[in-house]
Amino acid sequence: MNHFQAVSRVPGDPILGLMEAYRADSNPAKFDLGVGVYKDAQGLTPIPRAVKLAEQQLLENETSKSYIGGHGDPLFGSVLCQLVLGVDNPLLAERAAATQTPGGTGALRLCADFIAHCLPGRGIWLSDPTWPIHESIFAAAGLRVSHYPYVGADNQLNVDAMLAALSHVPKGDVVLLHACCHNPTGFDLSARDWQRVLAVVKARELLPLIDFAYQGFGDGLEQDAFAVRLFAAELPELLITSSCSKNFGLYRERTGALIVCAATAGKLHDVRSQLAFIARNLWSTPPAHGAAVVATILADDELRALWVNELEGMRQRVASLRGGLVEALAAFGLSQRFAHIDQQRGMFSYTGLSPMQVQRLRDEYSVYMLSSGRANMAGLEASRLKQLASAIAQVCAT
Ligand code: LMR
Repeated sequence: MNHFQAVSRVPGDPILGLMEAYRADSNPAKFDLGVGVYKDAQGLTPIPRAVKLAEQQLLENETSKSYIGGHGDPLFGSVLCQLVLGVDNPLLAERAAATQTPGGTGALRLCADFIAHCLPGRGIWLSDPTWPIHESIFAAAGLRVSHYPYVGADNQLNVDAMLAALSHVPKGDVVLLHACCHNPTGFDLSARDWQRVLAVVKARELLPLIDFAYQGFGDGLEQDAFAVRLFAAELPELLITSSCSKNFGLYRERTGALIVCAATAGKLHDVRSQLAFIARNLWSTPPAHGAAVVATILADDELRALWVNELEGMRQRVASLRGGLVEALAAFGLSQRFAHIDQQRGMFSYTGLSPMQVQRLRDEYSVYMLSSGRANMAGLEASRLKQLASAIAQVCAT
């Protein structure tokens, strides 16, 4: 008997597959605008200096490789909650806590299974468009996945359409919101927009799940936490998935957390007991190294200051590359058409390029971006913006 006879092939991952295709391309003039990783002026994804120094400390001082608990490193959990919710947030006393997970993706999967097991019947609402993996994670947990509009065919944020759709969501359903640096579009909500979303969430008694994967890459570490802190202050219950992949440059160390805010200390304990149970069945206990690095940095004034400075440098570099690309496109008469690139925030830009134009860019110029037209602005190189703008102008003209 051939047990695998009925196993069919699925297409490769839309983002990781692109990373492999880029690596395999021998054209020295290729552009990597696919997977969301930061690159410096040399085209490298650096390990922040603060991370290197923390790792040196850990190497010296680490005394055991025994398991960490189901919720992970308690110091990591507490300093991450402070980073996300604000150091003086009263919820930190007894109504909020983190469960460490393998990256932000692990936090999303834990959350998905928690909803499926503990909140039966609740569906989840994702923005259209969203990070493609959101779709498959929640579907894999067996949840009903629906969408609310976010960016229309005109490649503009449509908050009115979003609110209109959310005001018809069944009571009690979960709504996933991107705290900042919306992936894939780069279009973020204003403070006023967030207030309006909050009003609908309250009116419909929805449970928000805020995905916070890019803290520090939008308008700044504190500014990017605006929505999370607003919702945490105004609502009794909230789920937050936090990632340390981008802001600490810890991508492959798989470092993140699911932060739960509950109405009472007792209910927080109940929820966390379920999370530990679910996590045990998924990955048992989380990987330790990345979280230990983050805890070491955030608990040390000097390392923290160094990291904040390095992160701000990354943020400003990406913002200036956005401006530079728009300027380079202006030389080809395309400033109007691509003006939105400068209004978007974070790593990604929904360029508005069609799948066919994206394919041509890849085939003819070795420019790699997602077929949706999402381009990673952090993969741009200042010295080659003109070359990229010229390639974009060619595929837009013919
Ligand atoms: C991305 O969207 O490119 C990043 O979040 C990396 C990933 O895991 O997909």
